[in-house]
Amino acid sequence: MNRLEDIDVRNQRVFLRVDFNVPLDDQQRITDDTRIRYVVPTIRYLLEQGARLIVASHLGRPKGKPHPTLRLRPAAERLGEILQQDVQTAPDCIGEATERQVSSLDAGEVIVLENLRFHPEEEANDPDFARRLAGLCDVYVNDAFAVSHRANASVVAITDHVRVRAAGYLLEKELSYFAKALSDPRRPLVAVIGGAKVSSKLGALKHLLERVDKILIGGAMANTFLRGLGKDVGRSKIEEDMIGQAAEVIHQAEKNRVRLYLPVDVVAADGMEQSAQTRCVPVDEIPKDLMALDIGPASAALFCEALHDAGTIVWNGPMGLFEMEPFRNGTQQVAAQIARSEALSIAGGGDTVAAIHTAGVAEDIGYISTGGGAFLTLLEGKTLVAVDALR
Ligand code: 3PG
Repeated sequence: MNRLEDIDVRNQRVFLRVDFNVPLDDQQRITDDTRIRYVVPTIRYLLEQGARLIVASHLGRPKGKPHPTLRLRPAAERLGEILQQDVQTAPDCIGEATERQVSSLDAGEVIVLENLRFHPEEEANDPDFARRLAGLCDVYVNDAFAVSHRANASVVAITDHVRVRAAGYLLEKELSYFAKALSDPRRPLVAVIGGAKVSSKLGALKHLLERVDKILIGGAMANTFLRGLGKDVGRSKIEEDMIGQAAEVIHQAEKNRVRLYLPVDVVAADGMEQSAQTRCVPVDEIPKDLMALDIGPASAALFCEALHDAGTIVWNGPMGLFEMEPFRNGTQQVAAQIARSEALSIAGGGDTVAAIHTAGVAEDIGYISTGGGAFLTLLEGKTLVAVDALR
């Protein structure tokens, strides 16, 4: 795979695919600009080299048609503020007006195209649409790690139509941190997996069981595991059809000599509300009318102890319903322990990153991935379709 330094971009029209899929509030203000800030090194490098820069991204899921609240202008403005230079916006990502604007770009100038997903062909990985995008440029750079698990035209089909292509710094960094963590880790390698559903993490759990020394399971998905051990979990959320798979994961962990940790106590509540009545109870004594919404203090202490000697930590998924204050403690304790640890720590996934920010420990996590689905795809041991295409 070409690196940026391998290609000549002077005076070239460079199509830079980024992931500016950032959260916006109802005033169209960006509430977290991490994904923009993380591609700035690539953008600065290309501009310093004299590229004529075309930045392209998707935003949200507009289902193939223009959507007034999913325009890329706020992201372009934010980019302009960071770069402290004028950033143009295009009326679309293809079409005559956009082509005209792009062709009049000078070296060192930037234009942000309109949301790629305003065209259904983007998510359909349509070769014709990809050819039209490719027609805008001489050089293609993918720095959109977070969407590189999607077979979309601007990251996959486009690579058939460009002569020169390379990976941006962010894509390279994400892949290299991931490889460092999972291919040649300092041991013990500990995975912390949480979140709502076993079904969405099963692939990752199976893959991790072949690699890690310990695995800590929290979040609502732990309830399904506890059911798999025959425990009564009251009104807790579980996935009935995953109980067998959860039991199989426990069995496989034993076989592979992976130490698997489940909660030993939980914060149980009468509802998923801020004002809910809560009780900390051992997992063998969850009352019939309550539901587990966080790991309890004994579990948090156990998990922290299990993380104590880690050489490498990979974290995906919160330990409880951390968005609500009464169910935040487990995730915060674990986040604080990961932050304190000397281990190389890598965290990814939207909720996990939000939890890290809530806990205020972002500075002390080794690497925070910009990927949600892309991070999980790597955890499943799969390659990213756009990275394969780029190669
Ligand atoms: C993400 O936010 O994970 C990426 O931007 C991909 O978005 P998508 O899940 O809508 O494809």
